Amino acid sequence: MSSIISISSHKGGVGKTVATLNLGVSLAKAGHKVLLIDGDPQGSLSMSVDMKKKSKAGLCQVISNKVRPEDVVVDAQKLPLSMVHLGIDSPLDLFRLTHGTKTKELKSLLKLIQAISQAYDFTLIDTANNVGSLNAVLLSCSNSVIIPITCKSNSVRSLPLLLKLLTRIKAKLNTKIALLGLMLPMLNVNNPYELEILTILREAFPRGTFFSTFVPFSPLFDKADVKAAPISFFAGAEDIQTAYDKLSFEVIQRLENQLKGLEDDEYLEKLF
Ligand SMILES: Nc1ncnc2c1ncn2[C@@H]1O[C@H](COP(=O)(O)OP(=O)(O)OP(=O)(O)O)[C@@H](O)[C@H]1O
Ligand SMILES: [Mg+2]
Repeated sequence: MSSIISISSHKGGVGKTVATLNLGVSLAKAGHKVLLIDGDPQGSLSMSVDMKKKSKAGLCQVISNKVRPEDVVVDAQKLPLSMVHLGIDSPLDLFRLTHGTKTKELKSLLKLIQAISQAYDFTLIDTANNVGSLNAVLLSCSNSVIIPITCKSNSVRSLPLLLKLLTRIKAKLNTKIALLGLMLPMLNVNNPYELEILTILREAFPRGTFFSTFVPFSPLFDKADVKAAPISFFAGAEDIQTAYDKLSFEVIQRLENQLKGLEDDEYLEKLF
């Protein structure tokens, strides 16, 4: 199985980057070959593990033939996990990648990601919090999408626009894309308001839209931010790591079900 999964939301700060990293680590720990693509021009994912110290260049430099793909993909030391970033280091790079969907650079980026990801079991793409043309391209080369959502009203209100973008991408650019599920990357089970919103959300979406595993809210993520490391590196984070491990298992199960075209999976298609 070689699968490209985008982690997307229209709302910022809902835990996309953290989810991409830690889901990737869980999949790699289970022995899968994983590529993480930092598809956010902010470069948060690569910064979150200080990856830019290893390679300043990224996909943009490959597209402009300055370097080869193998020069920009950085391998983790102890896990079958690799990472690459966009390599945006000037406003011009960003303008080229975000100015319209038909630019040469965007098409080259799509082909490049598809080519690089062939060597991996799973490619996880961390996307920026918008519904712009760069994200449209990243979603266009993805087999599926995971939408992290927090149980806060602004996060919920941002969902329709992303779902509309996915509907459009499925209709026009990538008929194969499927919603793998909505995930809860920082649920505070002691907050009654969050639980109330979660109940409403679960009722609003078809059965099984949410992954059954949620990631608990934990102050340890502040430490992980400062130390630039995955959460599994920290003592006391065992329950969070277990949650990501379970989530990675659910991801694999859902992908396998999609491949088999099981009837149970049809609810996912209804969203589109
Ligand atoms: N389970 C959690 N408990 C507590 N804090 C968390 C949890 N998951 C993520 N965070 C924190 O929430 C903040 C936002 O997370 P993250 O950067 O992953 O969001 P994002 O959706 O990628 O943001 P952006 O849209 O800006 O890219 C970070 O400070 C992160 O450490
Ligand atoms: Mg992010």
